[in-house]
Amino acid sequence: MNEHVSFSVAAASGAEEPVWGLNSRPNTRKVFIKTYGCQMNVYDSTRMSDALAGDGYVTTEDMGEADLILLNTCHIREKAADKVYSALGRLREMKKDRAAEGKELMIGVTGCVAQAEGEEILRRSPAVDVVIGPQTYHRLPEALKRARAGTRVVDTEYAVEDKFEHLPATEKAKIRSRGVTSFLTVQEGCDKFCTFCVVPYTRGSEVSRPVRQIIDEAERLVEGGVREITLLGQNVNAWRSAGPDGGAWGLGDLLYRLAEIPGLARLRYTTSHPRDMDERLIAAHRDLRALMPYLHLPVQAGSDRILKAMNRRHTTAEYLRLVERIRAARPDIAMSGDFIVGFPGETDRDFEDTLRIVEEVNYAQAFSFKYSTRPGTPGAELSDQVPEEVKAERLERLQALLLKQQAEFSKSCIGKVIELLLEKPGRMPGQVIGRSPWLQSVNVDAKASQIGDIIQVRIIGTGPNSLFAEPAGSLIGA
Ligand code: SAH
Ligand code: SF4
Ligand code: F3S
Repeated sequence: MNEHVSFSVAAASGAEEPVWGLNSRPNTRKVFIKTYGCQMNVYDSTRMSDALAGDGYVTTEDMGEADLILLNTCHIREKAADKVYSALGRLREMKKDRAAEGKELMIGVTGCVAQAEGEEILRRSPAVDVVIGPQTYHRLPEALKRARAGTRVVDTEYAVEDKFEHLPATEKAKIRSRGVTSFLTVQEGCDKFCTFCVVPYTRGSEVSRPVRQIIDEAERLVEGGVREITLLGQNVNAWRSAGPDGGAWGLGDLLYRLAEIPGLARLRYTTSHPRDMDERLIAAHRDLRALMPYLHLPVQAGSDRILKAMNRRHTTAEYLRLVERIRAARPDIAMSGDFIVGFPGETDRDFEDTLRIVEEVNYAQAFSFKYSTRPGTPGAELSDQVPEEVKAERLERLQALLLKQQAEFSKSCIGKVIELLLEKPGRMPGQVIGRSPWLQSVNVDAKASQIGDIIQVRIIGTGPNSLFAEPAGSLIGA
């Protein structure tokens, strides 16, 4: 779950037909959604676009032609939150220019900054019409109506009703236009309260979606052409619900059930907390061919003292033992993680422990960040903050090690014949980009009509962020 992804959902949704309003005039209202933050925000942006479609909005990739601009925001680090206010400054100018032409431009802030700052956004940014939290975006059409009638709206209450019950199902054509892989949020919120983290405050406490809702959505996605689903949650492996048999189900049980859906070739899930990796989930990695051998399991730091101060509630030894058990169940699993350097009180020796755990685990991929003080979290109260230049130096050393491991992992793939899910046209004509089981981007010569197929390829080379392959043998599953 990482803030570095920042892209517009509209960019992924392709061309869309205009929608005709009730009075049979073309409804030309267009929405542009800018998505910051983690995959959960990416999923929410698609669902907001579904909610607005019911109100006659079509999504656009061109901000300049939008009548409504939504910033779906992230609060995880200071930089992420700052981006929102600088974007709002630019939008204010755009709104003024539009008004001078007598045209409407509405601006909405959604996501985690909306939840954390609420009214403050209206005070700081006069151009904003609506502020909607992650639990209330099913009420977006209603909020826009009120704003259009002259009242700026802040709706960040944790809604009593389940937003998923109130969102329209995604139209089949839309699913198709969004591609052959899809996110599906199954769990939201966090009860862990790591002392550095805003998520428990912006997303609320842990809530799991019911099994039936998830299966229905997954089946609909597959009918719409999706081959790979990534289950999402701030703590996805804390997902718990009553199974159809009335028994208590965990994420492992859910994966076994979803793997039975005909046509669903691949399953993934993210982000997991080490404390919630239970036996059944580990067994799913052993048993399910559809469950991809890749696991994002953040440890954050390698010093027990710092883990304790972070309130991670496990030790390095427990984490390493867990990784061992997972690897015993699925030997080819690629491990991924998140790291924070410069948590208050982190000494050189603590940092060396982080380098050591990275050496021991050997990550295929990882994300690392300088600790960012977040208002309202217990970490912000700690006195022994680490100087910026020390954080920068540690981050550089850690990233060099992680990059080396990632490059070594890529190189170890050369010569292997793997299954590749073809996802989208490549940069060169005649090329298609697919994903390896280990989540690497792979370029291969293939026809655009093969997108959605899983083919066998041989890895023949590596680039900075992707691999190169040649077709090898037969089609595995269309
Ligand atoms: N629920 C997930 C992580 C969600 S946040 C988990 O428990 O692992 C994604 C990542 O952002 C975290 O894993 C952490 O590495 C990073 N992060 C969170 N708060 C941060 C902060 N205040 N400063 C720097 N990085 C932070
Ligand atoms: Fe944040 Fe910790 Fe919850 Fe992850 S488990 S979302 S890092 S508080
Ligand atoms: Fe950011 Fe909220 Fe995700 S703070 S990382 S968008 S849960």
